Amino acid sequence: MRTSKGRPNKHVCKYFNRKFEFKKDTSWNLPASKDVYKESKFIIPEFQRLKDGLNEVKAQLNEFDIAEWSNHTKYRDPSTSIISAIKHTFKAELVTQAWCKFYECVSEFPIVSKNAIEQGQLNSVHICEAPGAFICALNHYIKTQIPEVQVQLVTADGSIDCMCNPGDQERLVEYLHYCEAMIALHILETGGSLVIKIFTMFEESTICLMYLLNYCFEKVKIFKPCTSKSGNSELYVICLNYTPMSDTFMSALLVPYIEGKFKEKSMFSMDHISPSFLEQINACALFFMDKQIRVINENIKYFRNVCYEQKRWITNLTSNVVDYFLNKYRIFPLSNEDKIVTGSKVHAMYHMAEFFLTKEESAYCTKINIDEVDISSILDVQIGKYVVNLYHSKYHTTTNYSYNQNKINKDLYNVVRSMLSNRSSIIAFSDFDQFYGVSKFHRIFFLEIYQNFTHQKNMLIVGVPLLTNFLVGLVFLISLAFKHMWFLNNMIVLETPQKSKVSDVRKHLDVIYKMYEDIDKMPEIFTKDILHLIPFECIYNKKIIKLISQYNECTLKYRST
Ligand SMILES: C[S@@+](CC[C@H](N)C(=O)[O-])C[C@H]1O[C@@H](n2cnc3c(N)ncnc32)[C@H](O)[C@@H]1O
Repeated sequence: MRTSKGRPNKHVCKYFNRKFEFKKDTSWNLPASKDVYKESKFIIPEFQRLKDGLNEVKAQLNEFDIAEWSNHTKYRDPSTSIISAIKHTFKAELVTQAWCKFYECVSEFPIVSKNAIEQGQLNSVHICEAPGAFICALNHYIKTQIPEVQVQLVTADGSIDCMCNPGDQERLVEYLHYCEAMIALHILETGGSLVIKIFTMFEESTICLMYLLNYCFEKVKIFKPCTSKSGNSELYVICLNYTPMSDTFMSALLVPYIEGKFKEKSMFSMDHISPSFLEQINACALFFMDKQIRVINENIKYFRNVCYEQKRWITNLTSNVVDYFLNKYRIFPLSNEDKIVTGSKVHAMYHMAEFFLTKEESAYCTKINIDEVDISSILDVQIGKYVVNLYHSKYHTTTNYSYNQNKINKDLYNVVRSMLSNRSSIIAFSDFDQFYGVSKFHRIFFLEIYQNFTHQKNMLIVGVPLLTNFLVGLVFLISLAFKHMWFLNNMIVLETPQKSKVSDVRKHLDVIYKMYEDIDKMPEIFTKDILHLIPFECIYNKKIIKLISQYNECTLKYRST
């Protein structure tokens, strides 16, 4: 399967040829504005049959364990390795799958228009873009490929979690996609470009939207980037050279948004849509659906059934796809000054976003698989003198460290935090009030853990200096309830809670809680503290000590920037 540079073989080509271009004809006209959003919604039986066909194939996946299936498809998808290749070779900013997908879009199509290049003006708007990889990819492209340019471009990458009803993904996102398109059409200048994500195109709302886009852009192409997972329905609509419509028509398009009646009416009636457009959209739907079904079926065939030849084939294919990608899109390194978020002030939450989107071990991120430990007998509490000041720590070379905290710039932090909080309990040092004594901090940190420890969520510990045996022991203790522990910069991510282990660890937390109550009842209030929780030998493991020290190093570094 070897490829020579620049000459991909058919297996590699398959990942780079997922494009469809609409060929307009003169019959593709829009109705008068008085007829927009007037008719009831329609369905096209043939498109619904396609939808059912695709859903039938997808339904086979219901039997599989999601995590196992996702690992399997990730392994089989050669594009996965492109992310790490770019990250490690070019040290680009926020390199995620989204970064790669958008880099493909901007390299493959002239969405940065000639006009913009000539005028040298940059105006781009990004809708539904958190955490911002599209923006970083665009910045990287412009600064390294056409540094003189300014752009008139809108990107819209909105999607929502459709796990509750994956068979109806298109309907679930149709309003979001309508809103994105309306914003784009209102703000784009003549000649501008739009890149908007869609999924399938079986429903009337997508069909009408595509008809509209075809009308007001000179060229409309549908693109599945190589780095978009082959088994999903995600597609990007690349719209080039915009001609704005009349104000009356634009107002008519906004009526469902203003009146809140999007669900009732269709943008256009079936009679207004040219049959030749319907033929093309049908061909387009079939083109991408066929590819998706093939990949799903192949993935099913090799699920739990991978032979040596297959493994070798995939390794080979992956390496060829990565080579071809890097060669085709000619990525160059970007200097630090040209990055969007520069220098050492990048908050660790930024890396966290990157981590959650790529889940890769790297120089700043280490994964530990939690060993089987007898949780029931691990608690080994020692009580000692209440501690106010800390002068030395074996977990970091520091002296006179106080648990006072300075405030950080919270903008990016809040964005990322809101993205993660559904699935993770976040215990961040920056959320604590001022603390003066070490023992007081022990107790407050413990209570925070005690309240947030559940089998339903991962746990993220952000920027909490773990400088005492108690704190390190507590984190070690709760880590036993999770499958993996990640150390990344000043964060510890405890991932995939195990229900029965959570309940075992919870029993110990209850004991500690009770001990604190007992300490409070003692006459000499606040003169004692719990100083150790688990036997030393558990944490006196070289790897853990080293990782905790590195984590503390980052924690203290971020606090001082
Ligand atoms: C696929 S992600 C976008 C990734 C982005 N292109 C990047 O490069 O980092 C889709 C985003 O759309 C956001 N989203 C979904 N519905 C939204 C809404 N109504 N308003 C704003 N954002 C929304 C999600 O929270 C998510 O951050």
